[in-house]
Formats: sequence, C-alpha cells, structure tokens
Amino acid sequence: MSDKPCFNGEKEKYKILISQQQLERRVKELARQISDDYRGKCPILIGVLNGAFIFLSDLIRELEIDCEVDFVKISSYGGGRVSTGQIKTKKQFDSHVDGRHVLIVEDIADSGRSIKFLEKMFEDSQPASLKFVSLLLKEGNAVVDFKLDYVGFMIPTQFVVGYGLDFDQKYRNLRDIYILD
Ligand code: IMP
Ligand code: MG
Repeated sequence: MSDKPCFNGEKEKYKILISQQQLERRVKELARQISDDYRGKCPILIGVLNGAFIFLSDLIRELEIDCEVDFVKISSYGGGRVSTGQIKTKKQFDSHVDGRHVLIVEDIADSGRSIKFLEKMFEDSQPASLKFVSLLLKEGNAVVDFKLDYVGFMIPTQFVVGYGLDFDQKYRNLRDIYILD
C-alpha cells in the first residue's frame, strides 16, 4: 500500500503483528475510555520520547476532552534490542504538574523499568493523579512490579518496530507494527 522505501525494500520478509486498521480501532477505543475517565478534567498527557510520539498524536486527536501535552525523553536501550537496564533522563518535562492530572503515554512496556522510573520521577512532583497508558505490553517480561492503567495490545516477547517504535532509530515511520527477527 505504502510506496515509501522501508526495510530497504524487503518489507515482505517481515511479519505484520498489528495492522494500521487494528491500531486505528484500538486507539479510538482507548481515547473513548480515557475521555470517559477524565470527563470534566484537563489532564496533561506526557509522551515518552521518542517511541510514543505517533501513538500520542493519534490518541489526543481522538480525545473528547481538553488536554495539555508535554514530553519527557528517557533512554534504556543503547541502540540494541536488549535493554541495558540503566535508564537516563535525556529531557525533563516543562509543565507544572503539581495538583494536575497526569497521564504518561508510553509506546511499549517490556521489563517495566521505564514505567517504574517515570513513576518515581512524577510522584516527586505531587500530581493530583498519575496514570499510565502504554500502546503495547510484552507478556511475561516484567522484572519489576509495575502497573498500567490502559493497555492497547498484549504482545509476545519479540522485538517489534513501526508506528513510532524503532530498531537503531529506524522503522518508526512504518504504518503497521512488525516483528523484527
Ligand atoms: P522497559 O523499561 O524494559 O519496560 O522498556 C521500555 C522501553 O524500551 C520502551 O519504552 C521502548 O522504548 C523500548 N522497547 C522495549 N521493547 C521494544 C521493542 O520491541 N521495540 C522497540 N522498542 C522497545
Ligand atoms: Mg519508550
């Protein structure tokens, strides 16, 4: 369908895990649920860069409530497919979040370390509420105790790319989510 080059023209070698249509449908459902839960409030949605930028931009356009948007950037993967376990803050959020309803928007939760790290980062700022939405959750890979309030799709513990998710900074621009073997 798309005529732009991706996977260096070898796209057929890779398996689609979640299609563009499935993503659209699920993002709409999540937005409806979030709109219901935050009715009358104006949450700050904090996108976790870089991976969540496409999910966040699709999600907010489906919301039926006012919201604000901000970003943090953290890193745990040093360019490979396995988390280093060492998380660093690369960009801090700018918003005043104390007393505000904060919804952190992640692309994927794997070991759970990033979610845990973000929970600590934001708890210190005393928001009125702190919730997490992740488009994807890898089943059975958690190494820390963490909770997500909204999950788009449970997926197997394989490495995936597309719809914002990268391998070595590439493939974020693919419309579907693929398993990268
Ligand atoms: P965690 O801290 O181990 O839960 O890892 C979460 C972060 O690692 C995500 O926000 C992603 O940036 C990255 N990540 C984990 N699994 C994948 C994957 O399959 N593809 C691309 N990035 C991933
Ligand atoms: Mg991420």
